[in-house]
Amino acid sequence: MPDHPRIGVLISGRGSNLEALIRATRDGRLAATIAVVISNVADAPGLEHARRAGIETMVVCHRGWPSRDAFDRELAAQLAARSVRLVCLAGFMRLVGPALLDAFPNAILNVHPSLLPAFPGVDAQRQALEYGVKVAGVTVHLVTPELDGGPIVLQRTVPVREDDSAEALAARILEEEHRAYPEAVSLVLAGGWRLDGRRFLRGQA
Ligand code: GAR
Repeated sequence: MPDHPRIGVLISGRGSNLEALIRATRDGRLAATIAVVISNVADAPGLEHARRAGIETMVVCHRGWPSRDAFDRELAAQLAARSVRLVCLAGFMRLVGPALLDAFPNAILNVHPSLLPAFPGVDAQRQALEYGVKVAGVTVHLVTPELDGGPIVLQRTVPVREDDSAEALAARILEEEHRAYPEAVSLVLAGGWRLDGRRFLRGQA
C-alpha cells in the first residue's frame, strides 16, 4: 500500500478501537497505512493487536520527562519521523499539549464515548447513564487544547435502555465506536472538508 496516507495511533490501554482501525485498513474501508502505534503505558494490551498485525509499536511513557512539553515533543518527533499525516487517539488517556497540536494542525482525531459536548472526560458512559439521558452515543472530533472539545467530525447515537448498567451501555457504545472511528478517519483523510469556526463542513463554501 505504498500510496496510502500514513497514520499514527496513540493508545493507553485495551486497544479495541485500534483493532477496529486495523480491521478497516485490511478490508478496504480505510485506505491508510498504520505506520506506528505508540502507547504511553508499557503493558497496554492494545500493543499486542499491533504486533500481531505486524505494525511497528513503541512505548513512550509519560513519566520521567523534564516537562509535559518534552513528552509531547517526543511524540511529535516520533510521528513525524514516520511521515504520519494524521494522528488517531484511540483510548489515549493523556491531554494533548501544544507541541503535538502544533506539529499536526487539525490532524489529530479522538474518539469519545458520548454525544459531546455532553459528558467529556473519564467514565462518560456512566455519567450519561446516571444523568438519565435516553440517547447516548459516540463522537469523533478534531483535537484542540480543550479536553474533548474540538470540532465534531461525526456523531452516532446509541439508545439507552431502562435495564442498562454502565457496562452494558459502554459495550453498546463501543460497538458503534468501532464502526464510526474508521469511517471518520477515512472521511478526514479523503479531504474536501473545511472548518467554519467550530463546524466541520464537507460542502462547498
Ligand atoms: C473507548 O471507549 C474510547 O472512546 C474512550 O476510551 C475507550 C478506549 O477503549 N476514550 C475516551 O474516553 C477519551 N476521552 P479501547 O482502548 O478499547 O479503544
